[in-house]
Amino acid sequence: MNKKTIEDIQVKGKRVLVRVDFNVPQDGSGNITDDRRIKAAIPTIQYLVNHSAKTILVSHLGRPKGKEGDKEKFTMRPVAARLSDLMDKTVTLAPDSVGPQVESLVGEMNDGDILLLENVRFHPEEEKNIPEFAKQLASLADLYVNDAFGTAHRAHASTEGVTKFIPGVAGYLMQKEIDYLGGALSSPKRPFVAILGGAKVKDKIGVIESLISKTDKLIIGGGMAYTFLKAQGKEIGKSLLDADSLDFCKGVLAKAGDKILLPVDVIVTDDNPFDKGPDNVQSREVSVDEIPADWQGVDIGPKTAKAFAAAVKGAGTVVWNGPMGIFEFDKFAVGTCAMAEALAESGAITIIGGGDSAAAVEKLGFAEKMTHISTGGGASLEFLEGRELPGVVALQDK
Ligand code: 3PG
Repeated sequence: MNKKTIEDIQVKGKRVLVRVDFNVPQDGSGNITDDRRIKAAIPTIQYLVNHSAKTILVSHLGRPKGKEGDKEKFTMRPVAARLSDLMDKTVTLAPDSVGPQVESLVGEMNDGDILLLENVRFHPEEEKNIPEFAKQLASLADLYVNDAFGTAHRAHASTEGVTKFIPGVAGYLMQKEIDYLGGALSSPKRPFVAILGGAKVKDKIGVIESLISKTDKLIIGGGMAYTFLKAQGKEIGKSLLDADSLDFCKGVLAKAGDKILLPVDVIVTDDNPFDKGPDNVQSREVSVDEIPADWQGVDIGPKTAKAFAAAVKGAGTVVWNGPMGIFEFDKFAVGTCAMAEALAESGAITIIGGGDSAAAVEKLGFAEKMTHISTGGGASLEFLEGRELPGVVALQDK
């Protein structure tokens, strides 16, 4: 990475504002259900603590819109408690992200202390990237560190605006994400195989366009595969169809030739498992040439899983973004599980794009076997599309 990192600056005794992505999922009672993003920020926080900085953490949580109850629903309180447990150290939660109370809390900090600001999106100026708000945030600190890879695709006050007022460098997580994802794109160990899944082709058009010329094999599964099958002239019954992307799929198929691998068999159900419940629908394996008119595809079939796994075997680098089926239901997670297993056994550099694929790998117990699991959902997609992320561009060059 060509950006300065925390190791390139002197942090001892300095107030350091660290943008983290603590946008973690919670259940209805506010319990954190997945703390990977908090854990992933710890190396940077620990470094700052060990080097006697005053660490001021800032993050968003969810998408509060100023509605009644939002302040309670989207408070950083559970995050402060979890971070404190994980670090075995007091993490003070500020009542806001800017203002006199926060300023006096910062003024009272000792070297090595950690202060977590309240949800920065409680101020609409954050997402609008209002300079006056960015200046207020920046005035809390001497230096800025961006470790929020998951939010680096947003040009917000705390991810971009703030760097106009204090110098900004990358944290360890940011550096790691960019080194792995960037390395895969610029100098992959070959053969380079990409696996794309998920529901809509539309969401992956940019990634497909970027990866088609860089990869040696492009595997397409999940809901989006049905639009490709339709583009080949097959009947897909009631499977997901992204009609607006049909022409795009035809173009890709014509251009990519045998570089693209599509399912040869799928699991279909007679009704929607989300509506009826997975145990109240009938399912069966069919060839992609025999999808019944009233049925819908929910997973890749065993022949496909075998063919996809064979393409992964012997790969040098594998990038995976998007599940192969409705992995939320164990019954239809078989194809996704088979791919996770194939990656785990491949010996390749395996990079998992964030969001659903990261959740699937974690849920299925293969997380430890992967080289890198990105903490970014939208951010990793934009990165794989080859776009520059505003939160990264804003940091100081080496
Ligand atoms: C994410 O979860 O992808 C990031 O935290 C960004 O959140 P946002 O999509 O609400 O900006």
